[in-house]
Amino acid sequence: MNLERKRIIREVIADAENLSKYDLGESVRGLASRINMKDSEILKLNSNENLFIPLDFLRNILRRAVDEIDPRIYPRDEVNNLKNALSKHLNVSPEEIVVGTGSDQIIDLVSRMFLRRGDEALSIAPTFVIYEHCVKIQGAEYKSVPLKDDFSLDVEALLSSVTPNTRVIFLCSPNNPTANRFSHKDILSIAENFDGIVAVDEAYADFAGATILDLARDLENLIVFRTFSKVFGLAGLRVGYAIASRKLAEIINEKFQMPYSVCLMALRVATKLLEENFEFIERKIFELRTERSRLINALNSTGRIAAFPSETNFVLFRTGNVDSSVVHKALLERGIIVKDIGQVLKFRNCLRVTVAPAQMMKRFIRELGAVLDEFGA
Ligand SMILES: Cc1ncc(COP(=O)(O)O)c(C=O)c1O
Repeated sequence: MNLERKRIIREVIADAENLSKYDLGESVRGLASRINMKDSEILKLNSNENLFIPLDFLRNILRRAVDEIDPRIYPRDEVNNLKNALSKHLNVSPEEIVVGTGSDQIIDLVSRMFLRRGDEALSIAPTFVIYEHCVKIQGAEYKSVPLKDDFSLDVEALLSSVTPNTRVIFLCSPNNPTANRFSHKDILSIAENFDGIVAVDEAYADFAGATILDLARDLENLIVFRTFSKVFGLAGLRVGYAIASRKLAEIINEKFQMPYSVCLMALRVATKLLEENFEFIERKIFELRTERSRLINALNSTGRIAAFPSETNFVLFRTGNVDSSVVHKALLERGIIVKDIGQVLKFRNCLRVTVAPAQMMKRFIRELGAVLDEFGA
């Protein structure tokens, strides 16, 4: 098939060259068969999923949900049920909530709503790559301002990078991959001094125990993204949501979101977790935080790894002079998948690891030690 003959197809292919690609890393199945291990022996610690929520506990909720849903009917009441549950949980009105297929999809909706070819979006570096991806899909320009060396926001640099074409500022707090939360004062100062929308991604806020929502509920240009993928352990069911001013939420819900965009089962399970099981989830957050401190202490006490503080369910750490890509590869050979981040501002050789229950962390720390022994750190 000669695609080159068709002008429009040629143009679309050329445009796609400029799009960034999300690197999912090696799959569990692919790695297991490559290194001759069982799938169940692979430790997947590269996507900040939540392994503290027991599989049996979630399967029980799914089983109960199966008996309650009618899959022949489009999910309409279920969306409203989830919005009502979220409204009680967050103390916002249901009309201020948008529900989507994971927060990624809502980031895409907001990009579609605010950005056209020639517009600009601003963000920070480093941060979650999906913002850049969604901005570029719109044909808009993505610019980023480095964080300060202590990982705080450079408010002045951000505001002075705004041009008349800048329509969205994406912030991620706590930030992926630096794992720190930005001060409310800095976020508010950006929102108050910018004419466009400030989108704050709070995917990890429950692990930090703080949210910008408490302070900024009345700010008309703020939109906050949240997800069930992290704190609730539902990454596979794909449920995210956003909180925005009533008018913006109404426009997104009625004009940009597709009707019935989230699957009935996912909506039902998310609602059940929120309404019936939140105390259990809170206990798991507590366990995760305890394990996170233990992991950071264990890494730092080796003397050859420097772990940064974390307000998330992952930890960013440096492997000194040993190349992070070498460590990443060597861990893969031992059945452990982490994320190689590389250079973060002035810090070389950074990797990111998901905080998981104690047994898994023990294996990770042991294998990481062995890899560093092997490569002479
Ligand atoms: C900052 C941030 N936002 C959003 C997401 C994706 O969330 P969801 O699974 O709801 O699409 C992630 C996933 O890693 C993330 O790190």
